[in-house]
Amino acid sequence: MSVGSAVDVQTQPKPLVMQEAEFIEIPMPDDMHVHLRQGDMLRHAVRAQAGQVGRFLVMPNTLPPVSSLERLVAYRDEVERALAELPPEARGEPLYTFKILPGMRADEVLALAQTGVVAGKYYPAGATTNAADGPRSFEEVAEVLEAMQETGLVLSIHGEDPDAPVFERERTFLPQVERLLSRYPRLRVVLEHLSDAASVEFVQQGPERLGATITAHHLLFTLEDMMGSSFNPHLYCKPVLKTARDREALRMAVLSGSHRFFFGSDSAPHPKAKKECAATASGVFAAPTAVPALVELFETLGGPASLAPGSAFLRFLAGNSAAFYGIPAPYRRLTLVRRQWVVPAEIGDVVPMLAGHTLAWQPVRGTRYASA
Ligand code: DOR
Ligand code: ZN
Repeated sequence: MSVGSAVDVQTQPKPLVMQEAEFIEIPMPDDMHVHLRQGDMLRHAVRAQAGQVGRFLVMPNTLPPVSSLERLVAYRDEVERALAELPPEARGEPLYTFKILPGMRADEVLALAQTGVVAGKYYPAGATTNAADGPRSFEEVAEVLEAMQETGLVLSIHGEDPDAPVFERERTFLPQVERLLSRYPRLRVVLEHLSDAASVEFVQQGPERLGATITAHHLLFTLEDMMGSSFNPHLYCKPVLKTARDREALRMAVLSGSHRFFFGSDSAPHPKAKKECAATASGVFAAPTAVPALVELFETLGGPASLAPGSAFLRFLAGNSAAFYGIPAPYRRLTLVRRQWVVPAEIGDVVPMLAGHTLAWQPVRGTRYASA
């Protein structure tokens, strides 16, 4: 009997089970940390994530930065114009942030809050891309932090001390966060893109109002992947990838079911020429592949239970962040099909994470909505 005959399908349950397993439907992930850039890059960036994320928190480190009401309105218009080029069901919903700069006043923060930003981003001076203008300490922007606490805005932190050795930058910064948390007892704080086991422990032991994003690349890779054999500039990011032990702590944080860890891709596209050169720009273009790569990773780590409704992994992708930020629970659905596909070498002049690799799951375009 030939394998694909109608008789086989009707009389043997196995092929039907296989067929069901070909698709999964999960709550649409919310990406709580993404760099969309400006101009043509912005248009590529929104296309790269289209149909794969629900809400997405847009980082403000553009040039010039999103650090005033005027800049926010202009940038929001630019983002909305780029989104309008996509089919409505693929657009998702942007959430906006502003960049905290020295000299910013409380009334400016209030105006931004009234215009709908959900978070202010603290980049220590010199810590990363376009951060030269950042504050040197939390004390320097005390007026801003006070106003954010009063208005209920979330403080999003790039938690690295740029003066510490590269590998220690994140954990060296933690005492500053500890002081901040006791000085502002009602401020909600998110430590972004955790990369190190010490930070995971710090968040786990911190107050309920402390949360953290974790990227796909910090869950997937270590320093060995970036420079163990030859240097791969497309995995160079801030904070840098760390050891297998750190990666294990991050994976355990996701699997712990703690609602204080949530997905933020930190997708940060740079043109190929700025990555494949002597002074490599930091950032991983994760938007096109983060979600399917994570689905594959956690299915491999935890088996089918990882993808069962309500699993710790799925709440990490969607749900935990909505609860933390106080936005509606995820209501869109994402379908993925188990179909091997090769990640393109380039998408609009940018090399995506896992370029040239074969992934097991492919997102299906076309948002569905939860019936409840
Ligand atoms: O690697 C990074 N790239 N880390 C950041 O914090 C910023 C980002 C960017 O904007 O390129
Ligand atoms: Zn970032």
